[in-house]
Amino acid sequence: MGLARPVVFGNWKMHGLRADSLALAGSLVERAVRPTGTLGVFPPATVLRDVARRLEGSRILAGAQDCHPEASGAFTGSISASMVKDAGGTAVLVGHSERRHGLGEDDAVIRRKVLAAQGEGLLVVLCVGETEAEWQAGEREARLRRQIHEGLAETVDAALLVLAYEPVWAIGTGRTPSLEDIAGTHAFLRRELVGRLPAAQDVPLLYGGSVKPGNAADIMALPDVDGALVGGASLDAAGFWSIYQAG
Ligand code: G3P
Repeated sequence: MGLARPVVFGNWKMHGLRADSLALAGSLVERAVRPTGTLGVFPPATVLRDVARRLEGSRILAGAQDCHPEASGAFTGSISASMVKDAGGTAVLVGHSERRHGLGEDDAVIRRKVLAAQGEGLLVVLCVGETEAEWQAGEREARLRRQIHEGLAETVDAALLVLAYEPVWAIGTGRTPSLEDIAGTHAFLRRELVGRLPAAQDVPLLYGGSVKPGNAADIMALPDVDGALVGGASLDAAGFWSIYQAG
């Protein structure tokens, strides 16, 4: 059996000192007394251990926003998958567009990160998405196909995988694709994913990019949309919880 739906994850990005992060985690714990779906947060690495501890005993998971493909070594500033696990994390985001485009990560390194993380038993949330230029040039599907086929080795464990579709142009902009567009893209992603990994029929597909309390219900009601990956709106416990409840 896969993860319970809806699957709603909050990517806190580079926001939050220890006190803010613990307060946010605490507010979520108070709300999520008996969640029937899957809820998780991805705080900055500096507070991952504190947040994971604060979430202990709740059903909210804590994960990291990235990990290095190597187990250890001279990689200044990086953290390995085993370090994520050691800090109490059970999941990791891989291939977020802010790393692909801001830090030049390509599908080859992403593929290694996915395997490294799963090798430590971490749930991998692989992020894919096209740029606005690719979308306008009609290259979205080709781009997504490449990200899936090159980012996922054939040996990937589908039971430890979530795929998040985040159009780059929708992240933090207040713009989203139309509902028809999201539904069509998710159907395409499901086909591509199962073509790549036959066991991926039950892998949750999340939509991310300007998800807010006001649009979450419509988006998560679409076929093949199993939940959401939320950025800005996940920094407010009430808003994030209402997004989760909309799913
Ligand atoms: O990973 C989540 C993200 O990139 C979406 O951010 O702020 O548009 O919800 P936001």
